[in-house]
Amino acid sequence: MFYRPRLDRHGLPHNPFNAIVGPRPIGWISSLSPDGVANLAPFSFFNGVSYTPPQVIFSGGARPHEKNAPWDPKDSVANVEATGEFVCNIATWDLREQMNLTSAEGPPDLDEFDFAGLTKAPSELVAPPRVAESPIHLECRLVQTVPLKAWEGYGHNTLVIGEVVGIHIDERVLTDGLVDYAKLRPIARLGYRGDYTVVDETFEMIRPSWP
Ligand SMILES: Cc1cc2nc3c(=O)[nH]c(=O)nc-3n(C[C@H](O)[C@H](O)[C@H](O)COP(=O)(O)O)c2cc1C
Repeated sequence: MFYRPRLDRHGLPHNPFNAIVGPRPIGWISSLSPDGVANLAPFSFFNGVSYTPPQVIFSGGARPHEKNAPWDPKDSVANVEATGEFVCNIATWDLREQMNLTSAEGPPDLDEFDFAGLTKAPSELVAPPRVAESPIHLECRLVQTVPLKAWEGYGHNTLVIGEVVGIHIDERVLTDGLVDYAKLRPIARLGYRGDYTVVDETFEMIRPSWP
């Protein structure tokens, strides 16, 4: 089959795009509103995009997604734009239910840490708290936000680029100094409404050097 997303209907029961570009790591983003209300939400349009300096991105959609709806950014994006800071917490198999709870579209003054029964741990370099139960945290400062080009009549998505200024790793997910996926068990998003995978098996393949 072939279809043009802008012009054609795909004719499938669900949009396949999310299922094709996957698995996607989950950035579980904590931030603070200008009034100091903690916010926590998962973003699977998320990734690390550079080593030096280490930088991550996530992309927040507008809501609602409908055509000609008034534009309303996600709280995470609004908070990061207002305060310039966020933390990316790693979502693991053990934290899957709590991660899912924090995706509920609550009001801006909802503290999703409390809602999901999670503990706040203070960060070292930024104001937003970390998810204490998560074994790895990336403390980030905003580099820039980029409004992504939208289709006519649709609200734009916002790409957030952050520099990772501090990294916390719980020793319990390390083996011989390496992050051990069998211990960490990060979850990743597949497609459709609620499909995920858990990464606890890896294989090694060394890059060839040019002869
Ligand atoms: C696993 C998972 C991944 C998600 N990824 C994204 C994403 O990449 N972008 C987005 O806009 N919403 C995403 N969502 C939905 C947001 O988490 C949801 O809209 C949330 O309420 C946003 O919270 P906020 O308004 O506090 O930022 C995802 C939800 C789940 C469960």
